[in-house]
Amino acid sequence: MKSLFDNINLKNLNLKNRFVRSATWEKLADDNGFMTDKLLNIYDRVSKGGVGLIITSYAYISETEKPNKGMLGIYSDTFISHYKKLTDLVHKNGSKIILQIVYGGSQTKYNTSDRLIWGMSSVPHKKTGVIPKEMNQSEINLLKKYFADASVRAKKAGFDGVQIHGAHGYLLSQSLSTYYNQRKDLYGGSLENRSRLITEVYSEVRKNVGDDYHVSIKINCSDFEEYGTDFEQSVYLLQKLDKLGIDSVEVSGGKKLSQLKEHMESVYAWYAGEIAKKIKAPVILVGLNRSYATMDKILNTTDIDLFSMARPFLAEPELINRWGNGDLSNSKCISCGKCYGENENGCIMVK
Ligand SMILES: Cc1cc2nc3c(=O)[nH]c(=O)nc-3n(C[C@H](O)[C@H](O)[C@H](O)COP(=O)(O)O)c2cc1C
Repeated sequence: MKSLFDNINLKNLNLKNRFVRSATWEKLADDNGFMTDKLLNIYDRVSKGGVGLIITSYAYISETEKPNKGMLGIYSDTFISHYKKLTDLVHKNGSKIILQIVYGGSQTKYNTSDRLIWGMSSVPHKKTGVIPKEMNQSEINLLKKYFADASVRAKKAGFDGVQIHGAHGYLLSQSLSTYYNQRKDLYGGSLENRSRLITEVYSEVRKNVGDDYHVSIKINCSDFEEYGTDFEQSVYLLQKLDKLGIDSVEVSGGKKLSQLKEHMESVYAWYAGEIAKKIKAPVILVGLNRSYATMDKILNTTDIDLFSMARPFLAEPELINRWGNGDLSNSKCISCGKCYGENENGCIMVK
């Protein structure tokens, strides 16, 4: 019988348990993407709180392309020594840490008039209305270089790996969609072509960080929207990435989680379970993981290896230690004692 507290090897990463802090944008980096003391304090608490692996909030890879304020940056070599403080701290506290890297694209309302935003095709974003510039081949090459350079910096800064953000409607995730990607060249049209940008980004990262470094990806199992990626397409892409040597896959999805009721706990479990049957790379399940008992059951009835949470750690950074000490009740918000840090009561941030 498998336990959520098993030691687990995620390629080069020896983790003390199967719990992951999913990427969580804290809105606390400074204007240039550098860490603040408040931000460092959050990572200190979460890593002391017993989680095996932390995935940082998304970090922007090009100085001119920042989809949200207060984000971490990784767009220049200055960040290498800067992040040493963070990676040393997390390692001292007994956890491992992966940097999530992103190119935002048109899914943003942040400073859109001041900057050039790249997209697969020049179509208006369904929610923001932003129309990006369709990337030409040299811009695609530059995008791949941004991802690869960011990964090399992460490695030099002591991160245990990188996670490519391929989920939640940002540029890479848009490349699969037949609405956001209407290209007629090698990057558009067939599913094989629409998968190309992501597989090329992965390959460029891999080429630059080497075979021994952990490279993960976060993917929607489905966008659950018209013209978005569906489950079959996600599986196709993940099988390709698996063959190319991806080290772990975090399975998320496009449902509006804040609108779902509690009984939708571990909402993408079925999809992640099917994916885990079809690929070699370890699968991390994210999305409304809340109770220990449910995760334990999923662990023992599927091939899913790890469980990732965002809001429970905002509410209670020490959650894993509490569970480890035998109190297996769901996380309670440290602000109001009732919600799960889901902002129902304004309890979104750790105090
Ligand atoms: C405040 C907040 C910030 C988030 N920031 C990121 C992010 O930077 N990158 C990312 O991939 N997902 C981000 N997410 C999504 C989470 O990683 C996770 O997929 C989602 O919240 C579902 O997990 P949960 O139900 O445990 O919160 C964020 C979620 C929240 C609540």
